[in-house]
Amino acid sequence: MADLSVNFAGITAPNPFWLASAPPTNTGAQIMRAYDHGWGGAVWKTLGTPIRNVSARFAANDWGGQKMMGLNNIELITDRPLDVNYREIEEVTRKYPDRATIVSLMFETEDEWKENIERSIEAGAKGLELNFGCPHGMCERGMGSAVGQEPKILERITNWVMRTSTIPVIVKLTPNISEIVPPAMAAQHGGAHAVSLINTIKSLMAVDLDTMIPVPNVGGASTNGGYCGPAVKPIALRMVGELARHEEFNLPISGIGGISTWRDAAEFIALGCTSVQVCTAVMHHGFRIVEDMADGLSRFMDEKGYRTIEDFAGLASRNFRPWEDLNLNFKVVAQINADKCIGCQLCFVACRDGSHHCIYLPGDGTGKAPDDGGRVPHVAADECTGCNLCSLVCPVESCIEMVEIDRGLPEVSWKQFTSGQATLPEYVWKH
Ligand SMILES: Cc1cc2nc3c(=O)[nH]c(=O)nc-3n(C[C@H](O)[C@H](O)[C@H](O)COP(=O)(O)O)c2cc1C
Ligand code: SF4
Ligand code: SF4
Repeated sequence: MADLSVNFAGITAPNPFWLASAPPTNTGAQIMRAYDHGWGGAVWKTLGTPIRNVSARFAANDWGGQKMMGLNNIELITDRPLDVNYREIEEVTRKYPDRATIVSLMFETEDEWKENIERSIEAGAKGLELNFGCPHGMCERGMGSAVGQEPKILERITNWVMRTSTIPVIVKLTPNISEIVPPAMAAQHGGAHAVSLINTIKSLMAVDLDTMIPVPNVGGASTNGGYCGPAVKPIALRMVGELARHEEFNLPISGIGGISTWRDAAEFIALGCTSVQVCTAVMHHGFRIVEDMADGLSRFMDEKGYRTIEDFAGLASRNFRPWEDLNLNFKVVAQINADKCIGCQLCFVACRDGSHHCIYLPGDGTGKAPDDGGRVPHVAADECTGCNLCSLVCPVESCIEMVEIDRGLPEVSWKQFTSGQATLPEYVWKH
């Protein structure tokens, strides 16, 4: 059976599934209940100077009958007294010594950082996470994403922390920047042991058109918040992938953003993460989801012959490349399986209006589709660009397959072509 245990930058845990710093990690009672369900670690709700929160705090968008595809929040860091938090951290670390209990911190001055690092260590924290990512409320005060967006400041504060900390330090990065590499490299230069990403994405969820007040409504007004949940997973994956493949970056990565299932977690691991963190899915479905996550990941690893997380961590990283390194001679075309097709013609409309107009209907007068009186569309293979759109809109599973065409051509990338290392066949536009 697969061994799910991890050693993340020196922090050990029975599995890579950790709770992200957020409402599910607000109290010791919650974290202990989570541990009883099987969570391998938890990053405590960020500790900081006294906070006042607003009401309401959350807004969500639903999609296709699914609730909470994305969640937006304007909550700040902990609003509970620091003494209470440290007392509870001490209890959790004493009762669950095998779990990765990590304390998230966000302070303003070097002295405050120092004092709270020391208190966290005294309370038994296994690691620290520096919250340089919160995109609302705290950044206006010069903390959170205001630090994450300024690599020099990020490096300086990481340096302060490294002077005091005797336990592993994780820098939590903000996605609210155009390039993820500079702040991650600043964390590395500052001496951090690891990074985690992503924190929430600066957002405004919606406007109530009856009241003309954006949501969530805080007494007649709203503000920008942080977006998370399944909708942000592709953004998080891209940032993780970009860091993992960067030649000079060599810190462990804890992946966060839209992770709800073992598959999501496995994808982050395949791109290079050695732990993952979850917030929205727990806020939606509760702590017990970890049971399915651990079970699913374990079965997947057994099936593939991966004994440990390290065995497949990063295996997909080498296949996530800059565009200029892709093979321009690779070609797929759409193929419709007539036995499965229900004749809805969604593929025809999508290709005609949204792509390259190379799907034809029986009896349309073009002579490109067999005129058999049926409703199964026909793909003109020599016109198809292989964009995938028809297969994405088709409602029938595996009805449209994208089939590789062997063109007998060598692998040639744009980089090789433009540097004169290889040639490409002349491009022929079919319409
Ligand atoms: C209501 C709420 C409060 C959060 N508070 C914190 C926080 O105090 N510190 C922090 O580092 N991240 C905080 N986060 C961000 C999460 O830790 C996580 O990075 C983000 O939600 C993405 O993960 P997800 O898609 O699994 O929710 C919060 C998120 C939510 C939804
Ligand atoms: S979308 Fe799929 S099911 Fe509908 S006509 Fe096209 S191939 Fe057939
Ligand atoms: S893959 Fe794209 S171009 Fe080809 S048939 Fe489908 S939608 Fe049209």
